[in-house]
Amino acid sequence: MKAPWICYCFFLFLILNCHSTTAQPPFEANLSTTWTNTESLPLSVNFTDGSRVRAILLRGSFAFGFYCNGTCTSYLFSVFIVQTNSGSGIIASATGFPQVVWSANRDHPVSDGAILNLAATGELVLQDVDGSTVWTTNTTGKSVAGLNLTDDGNLVLFDINSTVVWQSFDYPTDCLVPGQRLFQGQQLIPSVSSTNWTGQKGLFSLQVTDKGLFAYVGSNPPQAYYGVFGNDTNKGRRYVRFLNGSLSLFILSAEPSDPDEVISIPQASSAQYMKLMPDGHLKVFEWQARWFVVADLLNDYLGECNYPLACGRNTLCSGNQIQQCSCPVSSSNGIDYFRAVNNRQPTLGCSEITPLTCNATQYQNVIELENVTYFNIVADMEKVDIETCKQACVNNCSCKAAIFQYGSNSSGGDCFLPLELFTLMNADPDVTHRNATTFIKVQNVGSYYYDYPYSKLSRAGVMLISISASVLFLLGVIGFLIYIICKRRWDDRMEEEPIVSDFGLSKLIDKNQTQVMTTMRGTPGYLAPEWLSSVITEKVDVYSFGIVLLEMLCGRKNFDRSQPEESQHLLSVLQKCWEQGMLLDMVDKYSVDMQTRGSEVVEMMKVASWCLQYDYTKRPSMSMVVKVLDGVMKVETSLDYNFTYPRQQNIAVEQDKDMTPLLASVLSGPR
Ligand SMILES: *[C@@H]1O[C@H](CO)[C@@H](O)[C@H](O)[C@H]1NC(C)=O
Ligand SMILES: *[C@@H]1O[C@H](CO)[C@@H](O)[C@H](O)[C@H]1NC(C)=O
Ligand SMILES: *[C@@H]1O[C@H](CO)[C@@H](O)[C@H](O)[C@H]1NC(C)=O
Ligand SMILES: *[C@@H]1O[C@H](CO)[C@@H](O)[C@H](O)[C@H]1NC(C)=O
Ligand SMILES: *[C@@H]1O[C@H](CO)[C@@H](O)[C@H](O)[C@H]1NC(C)=O
Ligand SMILES: *[C@@H]1O[C@H](CO)[C@@H](O)[C@H](O)[C@H]1NC(C)=O
Ligand SMILES: *[C@@H]1O[C@H](CO)[C@@H](O)[C@H](O)[C@H]1NC(C)=O
Ligand SMILES: *[C@@H]1O[C@H](CO)[C@@H](O)[C@H](O)[C@H]1NC(C)=O
Ligand SMILES: *[C@@H]1O[C@H](CO)[C@@H](O)[C@H](O)[C@H]1NC(C)=O
Ligand SMILES: *[C@@H]1O[C@H](CO)[C@@H](O)[C@H](O)[C@H]1NC(C)=O
Ligand SMILES: *[C@@H]1O[C@H](CO)[C@@H](O)[C@H](O)[C@H]1NC(C)=O
Ligand SMILES: *[C@@H]1O[C@H](CO)[C@@H](O)[C@H](O)[C@H]1NC(C)=O
Repeated sequence: MKAPWICYCFFLFLILNCHSTTAQPPFEANLSTTWTNTESLPLSVNFTDGSRVRAILLRGSFAFGFYCNGTCTSYLFSVFIVQTNSGSGIIASATGFPQVVWSANRDHPVSDGAILNLAATGELVLQDVDGSTVWTTNTTGKSVAGLNLTDDGNLVLFDINSTVVWQSFDYPTDCLVPGQRLFQGQQLIPSVSSTNWTGQKGLFSLQVTDKGLFAYVGSNPPQAYYGVFGNDTNKGRRYVRFLNGSLSLFILSAEPSDPDEVISIPQASSAQYMKLMPDGHLKVFEWQARWFVVADLLNDYLGECNYPLACGRNTLCSGNQIQQCSCPVSSSNGIDYFRAVNNRQPTLGCSEITPLTCNATQYQNVIELENVTYFNIVADMEKVDIETCKQACVNNCSCKAAIFQYGSNSSGGDCFLPLELFTLMNADPDVTHRNATTFIKVQNVGSYYYDYPYSKLSRAGVMLISISASVLFLLGVIGFLIYIICKRRWDDRMEEEPIVSDFGLSKLIDKNQTQVMTTMRGTPGYLAPEWLSSVITEKVDVYSFGIVLLEMLCGRKNFDRSQPEESQHLLSVLQKCWEQGMLLDMVDKYSVDMQTRGSEVVEMMKVASWCLQYDYTKRPSMSMVVKVLDGVMKVETSLDYNFTYPRQQNIAVEQDKDMTPLLASVLSGPR
C-alpha cells in the first residue's frame, strides 16, 4: 500500500525537478525506492501497434520504464524513445511507437508485477514476480546516491559527488543514440528476431578493435563482413561515436580533434538512433512524423548479397537488385548435396543433406563453383595456386569451403578456408572485380551407410539392431545371395536330381571363406527356399540388403573412388540408368554368368531398387522379396527412382567397406 504513494511523491518530485531551473541535482531519489510493473505507474500508455509502455521517468523524448509488445506477457526494463508534449505526457499512440534503445533484461523478460528497486545498498535491482533477481547493477558499496536519465538517454547511477557510478551506455544492447560512444571491448549484438528480443549468441556483432570498426558474423572464428580501418597508433581506448551526420572513428585521434574515419549519416532533423538488426544490417532510424529508416550503413555496391546471411547458410546469392537464393549444386555429378531449409522461404538457407563428418573424410568431395565469392576473404594462405587452396581444405577436417581469389598477376591468389559457411555470392568478375572460385566440401552418402558411428545413429533416434539381429542379417544376406545366383540354375536342373541340402544355421557359420566364394563364382550348393525364408526374417534391414544386392549385381562398391566423379555413387548411377532405361549397362562386366543372364539380373535390380526406396514405407518386407524371387509376387511397379535423398530412416546395420571383405568378415566374425 505504501509503494504507490512513495512513487507518486517521487514523481511529483521528478516532474518538478525537470522543470526547475536551479543547478541542483534534479534527481535525489531516496534509496529504497520501488517501482512495480503495473498500470499504476502513472505514465502508462497503450499504442495501436500492440506495444505498451509503463514509464518511470521522461526526459526529452527518452524515457525509462517497462516495455512490452504483442501479448504483453513479458516486459523489458528499458530506455525507449517516445513522443511527448510540453506537459510531460506521452502522445502519438498511433504513430510514435516506442523505440527501445537499451534494455537490462532482454534475455530474461519479466512479468506483470515485477519490481524495480533502487535498494538501500545502492544497487538497482530487477526482480520478477516470483522474487528471483533477474538483473542488478552490482553497485553495492559504491555510495550510490540516486539515479538519473540524461538528456541523451543514458540511465545513470551517481554518488554523493554526482560522479557516475554506473551507466547504461557502458552496457549497450543493439542500439546507439546520438552522442553515444561504442568503446573497444563493448559490442552491439542484435536480437534474435524482430519479435524475439533475446540477444543473438555468436551470430552478428559490431565491435571496435585497435584496427578499426568491424561488423562480424559467426563465432568460429568471427568473420568480418564490414570494416573501417583506423590508424593504429593510439594507445588510448578506441571508440566510435554517433554524431550528428556521422559515425566517427576515434582510433588514433581523440576528441575534439577530427576523427580518423567517418561513415556518413544524413544529418538529424529530429530524434535518431541506430540499431544493429537481426539480419546484420546497421540501420539509422529517424522520427519524421513517424519512424523511417534513413540510412543502412554497412551497405556497399555489392548489394544485399554481400551480407553474410542474405540467403542464410550454405547458399548462393545472386542478383544485385533482385536478390535470388539457391542451394549450391554440383555441376559434375548432378547429386544434390544441399536442400532448402524451407522451400517457400529461400532466405532461410540450405542444409547439408549428409552432414560432414570427420570420421569419413574418405567419402568427402568438393564441388566447384566458378565466379562465386564471399563477403570477405581473409587470406589464410597468400600467393598460392588454386589447387593448393582446394587441397588445404580437403586436408583440414574442420574446413567447410575453400574460397580462392585470383591475384592481379600470375603469382597465385588468396585462399580463405572458413570453418562456418554463410551466404556465398555469385559474382561476375567484370562487375565485382572479384575473380574467384569457391570449393564447397560435401559428404557423400556412402559414409552414412558404412561409417556412421553407432553412437551417432542412436542419437539420431535410429533403431539399433541387436548383435544377434546383425548376425542374422549377415547370414541372411549371404544365404540370399547364394540363393539368387543359384536358384535359376537349380530350376534348370529340377529335372535332374536336385541335391537337396540340409544347410542349417550352424553349418553355414562353419563354412569357410573359399567355399562360399566358390559358391558365388558359379559352382553353387543349394539352399532350400523355406530355410531362407525363415532366416531372412523381417528383422533384416531391407535397405541394407538392397545395397548389398546391388553391389553384387554391379560388381562394385556403393561408393567407389576409382570411378569417374559422376559415377562414384552407385545409387546415383542407378538413378541415371533408370531414367535412361539402361539398367543393363550396370551389370558386372566381369561376370560372364551375369552378362549371359542379363534380363534376370535386371529383374534383380528392380528388386534392389524396390528395397532402396527413399520412403521406407514403400520398401518391401524381406518375405515379400523372397516371394518375388520365387515368382509368386511381382515387383512393385510404381517405384521412385530418386535414390539419393539422405537416408534417415532405418540406418540400422553397419557394414564393412566393401563387398568382398564383407563376406570374409562375416565368415570370420560371428563365431
Ligand atoms: C528521504 O528520506 C528521508 C527520511 O526517510 C526524508 O526525510 C526525506 O524527505 C526523503 N527525501 C526525499 C527526496 O524523498
Ligand atoms: C492498456 O490495455 C490493457 C489491456 O487492454 C488495459 O488493461 C489497460 O488499462 C490499458 N492501459 C491504458 C493506460 O490504457
Ligand atoms: C509490435 O508488434 C507488432 C506486431 O508484431 C509489430 O507490427 C510492431 O512493429 C511492433 N512494434 C514495435 C515498436 O516493435
Ligand atoms: C552483476 O554481476 C553478475 C555476477 O557477477 C553478472 O552476471 C552481471 O552481468 C552483472 N551485472 C551487470 C549489469 O554488470
Ligand atoms: C540528471 O540529468 C539531467 C539531464 O541530463 C541533468 O541536467 C542533471 O544534471 C543530472 N543530474 C545528475 C545528478 O547527474
Ligand atoms: C566525494 O568527493 C570528496 C571530495 O573530493 C571525497 O573526499 C569523497 O571521497 C568523494 N566521495 C565519493 C563517494 O567518491
Ligand atoms: C527467443 O529466442 C531464444 C533464443 O533463440 C529462444 O530460446 C526463445 O525460446 C525465443 N522466445 C520466444 C518467445 O520465441
Ligand atoms: C598513422 O599516423 C601516424 C602518426 O600520425 C602517421 O605518421 C602515419 O602516416 C599514419 N598512417 C596512416 C596509414 O595513415
Ligand atoms: C544536425 O546538424 C544540422 C546541421 O548543422 C542541424 O540543422 C540539426 O539541427 C542538427 N540536428 C540535431 C538533432 O542536433
Ligand atoms: C569419430 O569417432 C570417434 C571414436 O569412434 C568418436 O569419439 C567421435 O565422436 C567421432 N567423431 C565424429 C565427428 O563423428
Ligand atoms: C565466369 O565469368 C566469366 C567472365 O564474365 C565468364 O566468361 C564465365 O563463363 C563465367 N563462368 C561461369 C561458370 O559462369
Ligand atoms: C581469373 O583469373 C585467372 C588468373 O588470372 C584467369 O586465368 C581466369 O581467366 C580469370 N577468370 C575470369 C573469369 O576473369
